[in-house]
Amino acid sequence: MSSLPVQQDSEVPEDHVIVLFGATGDLAKRKIIPGLFHLAAAGLLPKRYQIIGSAPAAFGMGTNAFRAYAQDAVRQFGTNAPEGEVWDQFEASLSFAVADPDDVAELQRAVEDAEAAIGGSVRRLFHLAVPPDAVLAMVQMLGTSGLNENSRVICEKPFGVDLASARELNGVIKANFEETQVFRIDHFLGKESIDNILALRFANRLFEPLWNRDHVCFVQIDVPETLSIENRGGFYEETGAFRDMVVSHLFQVLAFLAMEQPTSLDAGPLRDEVHKVFESLRPIDPAHVVRGQYDGYLSERGVAPDSQTETFVALRAEVENTRWKGVPFYLRTGKCLAQSRQVITIGFDEPVMRLFPMSKRAPTWRGNKLVVDFADPGSIHAHFLAKEPGPLMHLDSAEMTFHYRDSFQAANNLEAYEHLILEAMLGNRALFTRSDGIERLWEVAAPLLDSPPPVEPYAKGSWGPDSIARIVAPNQWCLP
Ligand code: BG6
Repeated sequence: MSSLPVQQDSEVPEDHVIVLFGATGDLAKRKIIPGLFHLAAAGLLPKRYQIIGSAPAAFGMGTNAFRAYAQDAVRQFGTNAPEGEVWDQFEASLSFAVADPDDVAELQRAVEDAEAAIGGSVRRLFHLAVPPDAVLAMVQMLGTSGLNENSRVICEKPFGVDLASARELNGVIKANFEETQVFRIDHFLGKESIDNILALRFANRLFEPLWNRDHVCFVQIDVPETLSIENRGGFYEETGAFRDMVVSHLFQVLAFLAMEQPTSLDAGPLRDEVHKVFESLRPIDPAHVVRGQYDGYLSERGVAPDSQTETFVALRAEVENTRWKGVPFYLRTGKCLAQSRQVITIGFDEPVMRLFPMSKRAPTWRGNKLVVDFADPGSIHAHFLAKEPGPLMHLDSAEMTFHYRDSFQAANNLEAYEHLILEAMLGNRALFTRSDGIERLWEVAAPLLDSPPPVEPYAKGSWGPDSIARIVAPNQWCLP
């Protein structure tokens, strides 16, 4: 069993009752329940805690069934096997209560019982891992029942599907919670390698002086997935690749790449700098977008026979400020593609003079590339030109590499959800998104949502429709 050595200076949250809404859902099963257990095994959960799983009565779940369900989830998806003393303690903390927006009595009782079992002052953490159409009712229920007192709430994406729905959602949240209580989760911001972008840029002098339009000629954020929509037809028809991945995840990554140095890593200054990037993003021009749909999507369960929902999107974004004006940011993501990768490529300009002959094997493009592979455990690669050994001064491509796997105590890794749930319990909002940022992103998305180009078909296992080359011309996609 892998157990996580606690980093010596890591903070442990105050005592908590954690209520997991959507406890029977896919996200709870794959990420949240195994993540909570991993935190428990690492000694990063509070000294005293209780976890209440919650779902509508229709699921017919009770405490014993929930404990068995949690054990199965940890066995299937966890890093630690559900056994031994640490599992027994964790399991004993689990209970179940039905959550019904019209009848909150059972949940209220369960929270009171859990607080009494802990004793003293206890913080509540509500994790809303529920479908988008259930969020408003749950938030209102927490507000009107008074359960929102002394609490924090983690909200899952999607944060609306456009500006109007995002405003409505933010309005309801604001009516029931103070902004300091709200933690809008984007799990890409919990990934080690995404947080490391801040360190790479602002803790080193090696790259940051070149990190601007004078030296960088393009940025690519490429997240192809081999996964299909995995029986999520109903959800995906409402969302599509652009809303599911670009608005939620890729724009956040873009902000970390493009932002100015914050005055500190606290939530205020860090999120202010992220927000300035969103303010500087030009509204997406539909002419700079390719939307694709994989062959066979129309026969997936829950998909309309004439669906125009995209399962792939490639686009060019522009950050119009002094640092980045004129540098294209190419974003690509999609389902059923050739590989599952999570890669950022920063392309640096060629030197002004071409002094050196190139080896026959060398690439035609002579710029340097910095590649951040942010799929866990993550790596960074600097691509440069070096003299080929031999009598001639010929150059070929070379690479310097950093692998998280080889360089640090891998056992200290926290999976993105674990990291963010811990941050929420500690009350640190730095890695969570802000309502005004989300609304700004929907403004940026509006021209595309209003006039989407038609979807183009692509073969499963490909890199998307052929026409994506035009998005990056005269550059090229760095993958494959
Ligand atoms: C989710 C999307 O938010 O992120 C999925 O809804 C996507 O469609 C997933 O597959 C990718 O996240 P990761 O980092 O867990 O691979």
